[in-house]
Amino acid sequence: MYLSLLDIPNVCLSPPTPRLCTCEDYTRQSHIPYNHLFMSGLEDLRAKYEAAGQSHVFTYWDQLSADEKAAFERQLRGIDPARLNAMVKQALDADEAARHEQNAKVEPPPTESQVSTVGDEAKSNYYYEIGMKAIAAGQVGVLLLAGGQGTRLGSSAPKGCYNIQLPSGKSLFQIQAERIAKLQELAANYGRKAGVVVPWYIMTSGPTREPTESFFREHGFFGLDPANVVFFEQGTLPCISNEGKIMLDERGKVATAPDGNGGLYAALRVPVRDGEPSVLDDLQRRGIKYLHAYGVDNCLVKVGDPVFMGVCVDKNVATGVKVVKKTDPAESVGVVARKNGAFSVVEYSEIPPSLSEARDSNGELLFRAANIANHFYTTDFLMKDVPAFESKMAYHIARKKIPSIDLSSGERVKPSTPNGIKMELFIFDVFPFCADLAIHEVERKEEFSPLKNASGTASDNPETSRRDLLAQQRRWLEKAGATVANGADVELSPKVTYGGEGLQNVAGRTFDQTKNIESL
Ligand code: UD1
Repeated sequence: MYLSLLDIPNVCLSPPTPRLCTCEDYTRQSHIPYNHLFMSGLEDLRAKYEAAGQSHVFTYWDQLSADEKAAFERQLRGIDPARLNAMVKQALDADEAARHEQNAKVEPPPTESQVSTVGDEAKSNYYYEIGMKAIAAGQVGVLLLAGGQGTRLGSSAPKGCYNIQLPSGKSLFQIQAERIAKLQELAANYGRKAGVVVPWYIMTSGPTREPTESFFREHGFFGLDPANVVFFEQGTLPCISNEGKIMLDERGKVATAPDGNGGLYAALRVPVRDGEPSVLDDLQRRGIKYLHAYGVDNCLVKVGDPVFMGVCVDKNVATGVKVVKKTDPAESVGVVARKNGAFSVVEYSEIPPSLSEARDSNGELLFRAANIANHFYTTDFLMKDVPAFESKMAYHIARKKIPSIDLSSGERVKPSTPNGIKMELFIFDVFPFCADLAIHEVERKEEFSPLKNASGTASDNPETSRRDLLAQQRRWLEKAGATVANGADVELSPKVTYGGEGLQNVAGRTFDQTKNIESL
């Protein structure tokens, strides 16, 4: 059983509601009265850090200004150093055990949990109907994971702001927003009623929240009603040196990092901003029963996909995951599996070659259900089931080069080799606690082209994103009876079509120039 910071008994007693804080929530909770934090003086705080062998964090205390001291004390009070030590130890032990795990029984997922709609239009239509019914009834929300820092892409802006150089110049956020708008329109038509809303919950992190919100404001929420776009923020955790010490980013600031996309579960309970309800409260208020959560970087993502919703609703599961077929053992994707009898995703950073390269009797990869970071949840699962097992979810360890204060010189150094660890929960760490999981296989070329790497790299970069989106739109146009000249890149706005439907008007037309089509 692994500890998480959720176990830390730091209860914020101030309004709106008492709740457990993740480590850094204190620093984010400006509604906590100042004297509430400081009433017990500094000595107890020093003693706590001393007892945990972490008193070095006070090395530069005397050199800090009054304001810096106040901010630093606020941050330090948000950390329980003894609990943190225990958590680090548990995470390192789990990491070590996983590395040498000879005895774990890892198998492909059971066929009865899998539904493939690849190349099967009738089946897709069947599930589409079920999903559309739920969307039209206002029971579906979408949840965007946008807390990652996109380090591999090398852009300082949040990934969703990225322009993959489509003819329209639209950002990933805009494409997703317009798909939501179109889905609302399709659902309204389906349900023969006006005003269907698919609320959009956007999880940001410390580094991405402000720039993400500003980007939305600057672009008028891409035409969506701001009341239906809810930003919230995942937590952060201290970075720990190779020697097990809390690292300092500045002389009066602990180095921290987002707690991974599995930080989602705790973040759903936190007020989205001071004095406002949490995402879970909002889901309840709106009567949302089902959620589609997805990663920000996939330009082909079917936001709120009725087919995926339909598969999961039809199978009556609490959680689901979309997969595509993995064919390259080296591809950086997690694979869905059963580990010691429990559902899991074996992440690409943790899979041994003996599993990633294993093949079945047909010569296909044995573990080929590639996770494309599209998940399904019922609201009930998030509200009732997750809290019951959350403290057992193990943090993953990432060894990183973490810029920090060198305690011998007092200078901030940028290391050239990994000098510490960041701890993260993965969003799929809930799967082992799920009795059932719907695994929905979809076609890669229609649904998965992630933007991970910088321009000019070998794969998953802005060029492949652009290429794959435009190739899809060419297929849709040609299927609808249009001709698209070689070299003409035709982009179809999501305002025109969500998934290739409604293109009757293009039959017989020829498109011979690169352009974006906003209406037909
Ligand atoms: C992720 C999946 C991997 C899958 C791949 C498909 C996880 C842990 N791994 O890997 O199994 O095959 O996508 O593309 O999900 N994010 C946050 N907060 C964080 C970290 C990430 O919100 O602290 C978000 C990112 O913004 C992104 C998503 O989570 O939208 C996935 O993160 P990313 O770092 O791109 O994951 P991968 O390592 O590519």
